Order: sequence, then structure tokens, then C-alpha cells
Amino acid sequence: MKNIAVFASGNGSNAHQIIRYFAGDSKVVIRLVVTNNEKAGIINKCKQESVPCFVFPKDSFVDSDGLITFLIENNIDYIVLAGFLLQIPQALIKEFPKKIINIHPALLPKFGGKGMYGMYVHKAVMETGEKETGISIHYVNEEYDKGEIILQKKCAITIEDTIESIGLKVQALEHEYYPVTLKNIIK
Ligand code: GRF
Repeated sequence: MKNIAVFASGNGSNAHQIIRYFAGDSKVVIRLVVTNNEKAGIINKCKQESVPCFVFPKDSFVDSDGLITFLIENNIDYIVLAGFLLQIPQALIKEFPKKIINIHPALLPKFGGKGMYGMYVHKAVMETGEKETGISIHYVNEEYDKGEIILQKKCAITIEDTIESIGLKVQALEHEYYPVTLKNIIK
């Protein structure tokens, strides 16, 4: 059995999909959720799904000893980032090598790096006149948004598309492919 910690900062639609996908799975257990945001939408979703959710203040992701001890004490095997907006501390990456996975709402290496999150990504994609966008599921290493890519899926951008409609297409890909890709990696 593998224990997963999901890290999420916001709405948590991906975290929610992941929780539901693995509910009742005897081999992969969503053991807990960590958030840095006491107002995050994921907190209520965790209540609904009876998954423990822990709020860690921003500082815990700078001096991460306490967080690391907490994850080890909870026997966490993998960390899944699902809309987690703080930088992952180096010490955590060292403690969980190739065990931290992220999803990015664009086709990396394009449209990655600092400031590239949420609608900012889709806005940049649209303004650049891209004909396609998509998702990138990747390992997290020391370089922001540059870890080894595990899976990419694409969707077309048409002239009718807006930033919002691109966001919805990308989100649909995320929900379809993130949970199943995690299963393939972890099992
Ligand atoms: C997703 O687009 C994900 O790719 C990115 O952050 C967003 C999170 O959305 N890393 P949600 O909170 O899961 O709805």
C-alpha cells in the first residue's frame, strides 16, 4: 500500500478528482491533504470526502523540518501537487526524490516558471497565438517546472477560444488524465 499526501492551495478541483478516483482503492490511499491557505476550497471538499486536511503556514515551506517530520510520521510515500502555489523546499525534494509529482496547465517547457499559474498561463498562451495547449504531468526536481515529464496531453485552440474556454479545456484534460497517470506511476 502507498500513502499519498496531496498539496493544494486553492479551489482543489484536481485534488478532489484524485480523492474520488482513489476512494476505496486498497493499494493507493490519499492519506491527507496539505494546504498553505486557510481559505482554500479544498478544505471543504476534504470534509465532504472525510480526508484529513492540514493547514501549514507559509513559513513551514521555507524551514521545512516540521513538515518533513509530519510527512514521515504519516508514512507518506508520494506527494502529489494539485494547484499548490508555493515553491517546494529543496529539503523536501531531497527527502522524496522522484516521489513528488506536479501538474502544469500548459505544454512545458513553454509557459512554465515563475508567475505562470492559473489564468496567467492561459492568457500567455492565447497572447502568443499558440494553436494548441494542454497539460504536463512531471516529477518535481530542484528546478522550478523543469523536472522530467511523465505525460503531456494536448488540446487545440481555435479562433473562438477565450482565456476562460482554454482554461476549461485544459481543466478537462487535467481531470481525465491526472488521477489515472498517478495510478500508473504509483502502482
Ligand atoms: C490546475 O490548472 C493545475 O494544473 C495547476 O493549478 C490548477 C489547480 O486547479 N497546477 P484546481 O485547484 O485543482 O482546480
